[in-house]
Amino acid sequence: MTDAKKLFVKTYGCQMNVYDSDRMAEALGGAGYVTTELLDEADMVLLNTCHIREKASEKLYSDLGRLRALKAAKPGLKVGVAGCVAQAEGAEILRRSPVVDLVVGPQAYHRLPEMVKAGGRQVDTDFPVEDKFSSLPDRKVSRGPTAFLTVQEGCDKFCAFCVVPYTRGAEVSRPAARILDEARGLAAQGVREITLLGQNVNAYHGEGPHGVWGLARLLRALAEIDGLERLRYTTSHPNDMEDDLIAAHGDLPQLMPYLHLPVQSGSDRILKAMNRKHTAETYLRLIDRVRAARPDILLSSDFIAGFPGETDADFRATLDLIRTVGFGQAYSFKYSPRPGTPAAEKTPVAAEVADARLQELQALLTAQQRAVQDAMIGRDVTVLYEKPGRMPGQMIGKSDHLHAVHVGDPQGRIGQLVRVRVLASSSNSLAGGKLSENP
Ligand code: SAH
Ligand code: SF4
Ligand code: F3S
Repeated sequence: MTDAKKLFVKTYGCQMNVYDSDRMAEALGGAGYVTTELLDEADMVLLNTCHIREKASEKLYSDLGRLRALKAAKPGLKVGVAGCVAQAEGAEILRRSPVVDLVVGPQAYHRLPEMVKAGGRQVDTDFPVEDKFSSLPDRKVSRGPTAFLTVQEGCDKFCAFCVVPYTRGAEVSRPAARILDEARGLAAQGVREITLLGQNVNAYHGEGPHGVWGLARLLRALAEIDGLERLRYTTSHPNDMEDDLIAAHGDLPQLMPYLHLPVQSGSDRILKAMNRKHTAETYLRLIDRVRAARPDILLSSDFIAGFPGETDADFRATLDLIRTVGFGQAYSFKYSPRPGTPAAEKTPVAAEVADARLQELQALLTAQQRAVQDAMIGRDVTVLYEKPGRMPGQMIGKSDHLHAVHVGDPQGRIGQLVRVRVLASSSNSLAGGKLSENP
């Protein structure tokens, strides 16, 4: 193995990119590459990029700038750009950056080993008809007791601000049998928690035995796999939250009490301009139904501040919605105009106004998150150990509600599920004492 070439992968953006990076590394394993954590020893560098906001895209070019020196010192170094910037900019990346050898879009990853073997500078941003995951070798490696598993990709919703329908293409669901095989393989390697991924994961409608399966049907089948104790899914769209999925939150013990359901805004006028096709009211009624099925569910969301045309009253409506729901976790962003999206044509909100709104939004969301966390003190939670903590004898894992929990447990092992009493809450995590093992 001493002559194996070394691959360094850097992943930007969402969890789907994390999953894709692993799959690309595995595929390149077949072409003689082993992964390395050390950039300096790499024979190939793969940047798996994100296009969602301007800042995310800019990171690619600053990293490519830094790679120039490395490539000058090591002329054989191959540099590949994958992900959503690759899809959006294609051959433009080769023109702008002479260090780049390969540009590969998210639907063409199964062709990557061939591209590497062929050599030279190449671009593949096709949307081939074959399913890339079915064309990649079966998944062999997992990195611990938790894993991501992509079940659906792409988006047909075309929110006015968003590049995903252009970079990932139309919605495609993987066949249920392939997903179940992959999940069984992961469970056999000791994976105890799987997070199903999709840009619109709850729009999943994959080919299954006896017809098309929705996400609820898929979750129920996954729950029967031995060793899989926890299931999660992300990201959902409010319009695809079907009754049977809500019901699954009430009666499927493996389905964790956590739901990330982006709302973006609390103003109907802005939601309409965003092409979201839901209102603040329909979102709130949906939250009521989810909470009726699973009263202790922790809710999470995404928000955009300063969408074109957003008035102060619109922004206040967003704050009102947040106060009504009470989120345990949230992501909020300043609107970023993206090339090719309809909203980018509109007059932007003044930067200082958008900045001030984002700050106010984040202050409220942080306070809510902290209140939900503090309310866990004195309660008993189940924790899946993921890694050792920084202190000797300490383990870190996630609770059912996805809170990071630090536990003093010198005998603790990665992959163990333990029962813990929460004793303290700090800005981004909880701390507790172990009560028992294998609850
Ligand atoms: N498919 C997911 C989200 C994908 S992007 C969904 O529909 O929920 C993740 C989040 O990034 C979005 O929910 C949105 O809040 C944010 N986002 C997307 N485009 C953006 C833009 N142009 N400016 C600012 N935030 C954006
Ligand atoms: Fe983007 Fe909207 Fe699709 Fe989410 S639903 S990926 S925000 S277009
Ligand atoms: Fe970014 Fe593409 Fe994911 S734009 S958020 S990497 S789908």
